[in-house]
Amino acid sequence: MNPSDIEKQAAAVAAAELVESGMKLGLGTGSTVAFLLQALADRAIDVECVSTSPQTEKIARELGLNVSSFAGLEGVAHLDMAIDGADQVDPAGWIIKGGGAAHTREKCVAAAADRFIVIVSSDKLVPALTAPLPLELLDYGLAATLRALGTVSLRDVPRSPDGGVIADWLGSLNDPASLAARLSATPGVIDNGLFSPDMTERVVVAESTTTRHIMINA
Ligand code: 5RP
Repeated sequence: MNPSDIEKQAAAVAAAELVESGMKLGLGTGSTVAFLLQALADRAIDVECVSTSPQTEKIARELGLNVSSFAGLEGVAHLDMAIDGADQVDPAGWIIKGGGAAHTREKCVAAAADRFIVIVSSDKLVPALTAPLPLELLDYGLAATLRALGTVSLRDVPRSPDGGVIADWLGSLNDPASLAARLSATPGVIDNGLFSPDMTERVVVAESTTTRHIMINA
């Protein structure tokens, strides 16, 4: 395994230790979460999971984890915990997610959870957030939305499972709170990959095989 994967695995294993039997658990998306799924399967505890992507759901089911739906009126309405990776974490606890284009679902799942735990390798800790910032856009009115946003490029990937167009904001991230408010107020923007510090309980970061818990909201 390369050094980054060793750290991703260490962070994932440490976060899996926070999970208790009987919990309803949100599962993020990405390579760090893949290590989490294996760690949860290794612990063989009884948890009811919801998934943020078809990829995560497939791996989770293959590992024997119990996956329920988060869609529709019959879906799970409340989660005890959600665990997910991230692309960037700044010193104030602002986080960029969506490198895997699952940020809209990931934010829904994080917001439904009492405790949101972020798991990262040490290279994800950055002094300041920088572009690209993932976006999910409505196809209807897309050209007008792009014109309103300005510095955005469409990502050459399939649409999200919910039909959204994946794009990236390429402008300044000097003021994440103002940018998040502006993006949320722009019609046609389904969601963006900025997660505010108040969403996250802690960031579990691995430096080599040592893990550290950075408490954001204890
Ligand atoms: C997917 C995400 C991922 O959590 C993020 O991109 C980190 O991915 P990885 O764990 O593969 O480094 O936000 O939408």
